[in-house]
Amino acid sequence: MNQFLGRFPQTRMRRMRRDDFSRRLLREHRLSADDLILPLFVRTGKGRDAIAAMPGVDRLGLAEVAGAAERAARAGLPAVALFPAPDASCKTPDGAAACDPDGVLAQAIAAIKRAVPELGVIADVALDPYTTHGQDGVLDAQGRVDNDATVAVLCRQAQVQAAAGADVVAPSDMMDGRVGAIRAALDAAGHPEVRILAYAAKYASAYYGPFREAVGSAAALRGDKRGYQMDPANTDEALREVALDLDEGADMVMVKPGLPYLDVVRRVRETFGAPTFVYQVSGEYAMLKAAAAQGWLDERACQLEALLACKRAGAHAVLTYAALDAARWLSE
Ligand code: PBG
Repeated sequence: MNQFLGRFPQTRMRRMRRDDFSRRLLREHRLSADDLILPLFVRTGKGRDAIAAMPGVDRLGLAEVAGAAERAARAGLPAVALFPAPDASCKTPDGAAACDPDGVLAQAIAAIKRAVPELGVIADVALDPYTTHGQDGVLDAQGRVDNDATVAVLCRQAQVQAAAGADVVAPSDMMDGRVGAIRAALDAAGHPEVRILAYAAKYASAYYGPFREAVGSAAALRGDKRGYQMDPANTDEALREVALDLDEGADMVMVKPGLPYLDVVRRVRETFGAPTFVYQVSGEYAMLKAAAAQGWLDERACQLEALLACKRAGAHAVLTYAALDAARWLSE
């Protein structure tokens, strides 16, 4: 590369930056609505209710969810990602409601597939919204999340979602071996076409705070999730997690959170070249909204820059609560 570097004054880097036409020709990465996935929270009952730390994001009843999915499709988004926010009365120590074929998530999947069949529907596979203790699995006698017992429940949950019409199931729990087990369970239930988006490198992050409020697991949560989610200090471990999930049959892998973990995204994309997704999580959204509300940051410019940075780091697509806004901004 060195012999092409050139030197001043023959080489002037600013020449190509001078005008819009040459900046456009030079541009390496582009953001479009095709890159964005909108997370939606589905609540028990009718109507919508607000999430304090996530201005502009509401928990939606079934009718509202179908409407939001229609808006997402019209805005050009390829897919939505559904998260349940079930009533507290659905919570049990074993999170059994996660596998209810008439549960809130299964109903939402079916409603969206009826309203906008072409829109991709990604369903979250994890127990935390359904457990009284807020952990992502069932507990053993010592109060730790029991890996293998949890995986068995996740398999049933994934089968229920696939039967309801989900195109993609997305295990966000970080249990060992769940991708392979879910793949086998889906195939056995006659759903070989249903894809798996594995939260492969999911960190034990403090940026999930507003999400836990949204799904109602915050108040319930006892302890933390460091026994299964990854230590923010590690990246080699992320590569091992991704390798295992791909080997077990993941169609797509995800790194989460987004902006603070773009080094991980780059390593994953370069090492595996597999479909790589990033989750710009609730705390990232909340930070930007709060600063914008104070007039301290330009929300539109900062949000588009953050999403572009995810692509530049190697992401094929980004889950972002700002997906509808971003799609609109990009079309203006
Ligand atoms: C839990 C889950 C979490 C998120 C997605 N799935 C929170 C957690 O692990 O406690 C966080 C998403 C966000 O913060 O936007 N299965």
